[in-house]
Amino acid sequence: MSAMEPSTGSARWVEARLRAAGCVFAEDETRLLVDAASTAAELTSMVERRTAGEPIEHVVGWAEFCGLRIDVDRGVFVPRRRTEFLVTHAIALARPRAVVLDMCCGSGAIGIAIASHVGAIELHAVDIDPIAGACARRNVAGVGGEVHVGDLYDALPGSLRGRVDVLVANAPYVPTDELPLLPAEARDHEPTVALDGGPDGLDVQRRVIDGAPSWLAPYGHLLVETSERQVPLTVDAVARIGLHPRVERSDALNATVVIGAAPAP
Ligand SMILES: C[S@@+](CC[C@H](N)C(=O)[O-])C[C@H]1O[C@@H](n2cnc3c(N)ncnc32)[C@H](O)[C@@H]1O
Repeated sequence: MSAMEPSTGSARWVEARLRAAGCVFAEDETRLLVDAASTAAELTSMVERRTAGEPIEHVVGWAEFCGLRIDVDRGVFVPRRRTEFLVTHAIALARPRAVVLDMCCGSGAIGIAIASHVGAIELHAVDIDPIAGACARRNVAGVGGEVHVGDLYDALPGSLRGRVDVLVANAPYVPTDELPLLPAEARDHEPTVALDGGPDGLDVQRRVIDGAPSWLAPYGHLLVETSERQVPLTVDAVARIGLHPRVERSDALNATVVIGAAPAP
């Protein structure tokens, strides 16, 4: 080792390894990795994983979302910054004691963020993937929510029918033949079931929308994240079930949400 080379395991060594691997935020990620590792061996292993392309959130085991620290296990979808836009709109619609359903919950980030901001709500979250379900269960324990593992509404107790005030969904919406275009971190480290939305990207989203009327309370709201390009399809699906759709867009976050309002009973 030359006198100028940082010693193995030092913060400078970590940063140099990350930079060499092309990590854009090497300085910030160095801090995260150094904080997360409890031994030198663990730090070295984390650096190996990160430089091999694993998302930083999987390596350290958590993601920041709406100012909260959400556990994200390996194999679970990493909550995206853009989804904070959906949360902002859900918070505006959810009153204390509202029944909130986070459909396709992944780590449970959306529901937890709503509960953390609104206070006492009745939170239910659903995911088909047992790995996501286990992660969400740990996360929602802090806000007193319940996680159901299964296929969309099949996973829910019938007692919830007609009681959901705010139904939020960030379901998979990438068209199948665009999956190869995703960044490698998503393609290689997030499960296909979390990303693949079928031929036009709306297979799961449409099923969420079609099922919503049976579960929404009078005056309830459905909020669905979608892409700017898919807005007409999502709006059409929401209008077809008799909800009044409106579109909210944030260019800053590149986020689009379609909100459907249930009519009076
Ligand atoms: C794009 S990820 C979003 C996760 C979370 N809502 C978020 O924003 O971080 C979509 C999630 O939908 C789940 N999913 C896909 N198909 C499903 C289905 N039929 N029933 C329930 N969950 C499903 C996946 O397992 C994945 O966790």
